[in-house]
Amino acid sequence: MKNFTGKVQNINKIASNAYELKISSELAEAHSGQFISISIPNKTFHRPFSIADFDKDKKITTVLFKLKGEGTNYLANLKTNDNIEFLAPLGNKFNLINKNSLLVGAGIGIAPMLFLKKELDESDIKNYLISGFRTNDEVIFGSDENVIGGSVLDNLDKIVKEKNIEIIYSCGPKVVLKEICNIAKNNNIDCFIALEKVMACSIGVCRGCAIKLNRDDKIMRASVCKDGPIFKGDEVIWED
Ligand SMILES: Cc1cc2nc3c(=O)[nH]c(=O)nc-3n(C[C@H](O)[C@H](O)[C@H](O)COP(=O)(O)OP(=O)(O)OC[C@H]3O[C@@H](n4cnc5c(N)ncnc54)[C@H](O)[C@@H]3O)c2cc1C
Ligand code: FES
Repeated sequence: MKNFTGKVQNINKIASNAYELKISSELAEAHSGQFISISIPNKTFHRPFSIADFDKDKKITTVLFKLKGEGTNYLANLKTNDNIEFLAPLGNKFNLINKNSLLVGAGIGIAPMLFLKKELDESDIKNYLISGFRTNDEVIFGSDENVIGGSVLDNLDKIVKEKNIEIIYSCGPKVVLKEICNIAKNNNIDCFIALEKVMACSIGVCRGCAIKLNRDDKIMRASVCKDGPIFKGDEVIWED
């Protein structure tokens, strides 16, 4: 992990409340599941964002972000060639497993799923991507075929059965992830999820992003920023 000073290559509004930000920098390697943490002027803490795409040849890192508070509003007003400071690459990555895969992105949770889809496609691993957005003007990605109007949970169990899905990957709000883990468990298949937790340091030092896992019948603590953000669904102990 290093601190990079990159330049905004492009910023585009892609939905009523979301933007695509492309950053050119010296970052040379990144994988799906990993994230970057962007410095915001006059703010103590960086803001974490999943990597939605990484172009190794052109050295361009893409993130998709939803407007939330001061940090994301600052990012939305950046212009081409503005400097941008960030820590990267952060966190663990998705393992590419050669199984018939279902990728489920709920809302802005589509971001890491797009990068994962690219890596699975490049490895010739069969996969289906579905995404769900609350309203039509929030739709970021997809065609009629794979965008579910409303909740991605509608018909998910049916899709898993019909398409003989062997593994699920997902990112989205906690309530959705929890239900997806249940659907995976009921179908006796593995599920890997990208978790979000409010972060201070983003690099495994402050322990502010700790969660509990049940691994091999032992309860252990893990940092979302360093041990995650990707976790095996059936190991996560869901707390409020
Ligand atoms: C590993 C990871 C990956 C993420 N990937 C994306 C992504 O690809 N696209 C996207 O739009 N958002 C993503 N988020 C959420 C994103 O970090 C927050 O929306 C963003 O930090 C909000 O900053 P703000 O200053 O605009 O909002 P404010 O609400 O003003 O932020 C105040 C503080 O709370 C923190 N915070 C607020 N919401 C969240 C949240 N949901 N998760 C973590 N910290 C939060 C901020 O970092 C900041 O420290 C991710 C979060 C994590 C942990
Ligand atoms: S945010 Fe500091 S340990 Fe994860």
